[in-house]
Amino acid sequence: MQELRGKTAVVTGGGSGIGRGMAVAFAEAGMRVAVADVDADAAGAVAEELRARGVEAGSFGTDVMQRESVAALADAVYERFGGVQLLCNNAGVSTFGPAVQATDADWDWVLGVNLHGVIHGLQAFLPRMQGQEGEKHVVNTASIAGMQGLPILGPYVASKFAVVGLTETLRLEGSSWGLSASVLCPGNVQTGIANSRRNRPQGLGEEAVHPGIEKRVHSGISAGIDPEAVGRMVRDAVLRDDLYVFTHAEHRAELKERFDRILSAFDVLDEGSS
Ligand SMILES: NC(=O)c1ccc[n+]([C@@H]2O[C@H](COP(=O)([O-])OP(=O)(O)OC[C@H]3O[C@@H](n4cnc5c(N)ncnc54)[C@H](O)[C@@H]3O)[C@@H](O)[C@H]2O)c1
Repeated sequence: MQELRGKTAVVTGGGSGIGRGMAVAFAEAGMRVAVADVDADAAGAVAEELRARGVEAGSFGTDVMQRESVAALADAVYERFGGVQLLCNNAGVSTFGPAVQATDADWDWVLGVNLHGVIHGLQAFLPRMQGQEGEKHVVNTASIAGMQGLPILGPYVASKFAVVGLTETLRLEGSSWGLSASVLCPGNVQTGIANSRRNRPQGLGEEAVHPGIEKRVHSGISAGIDPEAVGRMVRDAVLRDDLYVFTHAEHRAELKERFDRILSAFDVLDEGSS
């Protein structure tokens, strides 16, 4: 997008962390912001903070796992703001532990929020965005864990790889009707993600506790970068129309190693043909 001022952004998971960081960065650019979160109070507090900065903002209690809840969000946002130019499917959660020990409930929850949450956002908003004149952009929040397998994050990695692939597809398909797309792939950011279980639906039962693993996750996240800086990176990436949004230079080397390994797996075909 070349101009953000006066346009409307929707941010799911906007009540905390990276979602709040994006909401603040968009407000600084003069956008109107719809802050959606399953924690309606947190969304309300962020919207209040944005209004105090002099921009129009609304808060919406939305559970992205539920298709009807996201459809109701789209209805409410279109009614209030009349259009949406920037959709950020950002809400996300994680469990922490060996994939082999993840329960059905763990898989359902992590894929339900991180992948189906994105799908529900696309289903609810894109048909209406398609009918709008002018520039349109979707930002889906994946992770550096959407680019490489990582231990103790099995369901999370699976969900984030899917979000990367879906965003690449969306960008290809959207180009014919004025929609672009970016995928945010952060490393550690100082947010509430290590306490994701605060949002785990009660019906899914308790999550297994792995104290050693969780201590490591907490210390990694608390050493992470500032979520407001990530919000500004996303805003700048939307203005530049970047597909991939990375936040940590130090991940370049490990991704290069992975991509080199993938490409070298083709060598066996060259050998076979000689
Ligand atoms: N923090 C990191 O290090 C990091 C790294 C890579 C990717 N991410 C991704 O960033 C995104 C934002 O997470 P964060 O780190 O800011 O964590 P966070 O816990 O601070 O924020 C997540 C927000 O999502 C909301 N949420 C949870 N379940 C929801 C649901 N069902 N419906 C609607 N909202 C829901 C929470 O209430 C919370 O406000 C996630 O997609 C996460 O996977 C985070």
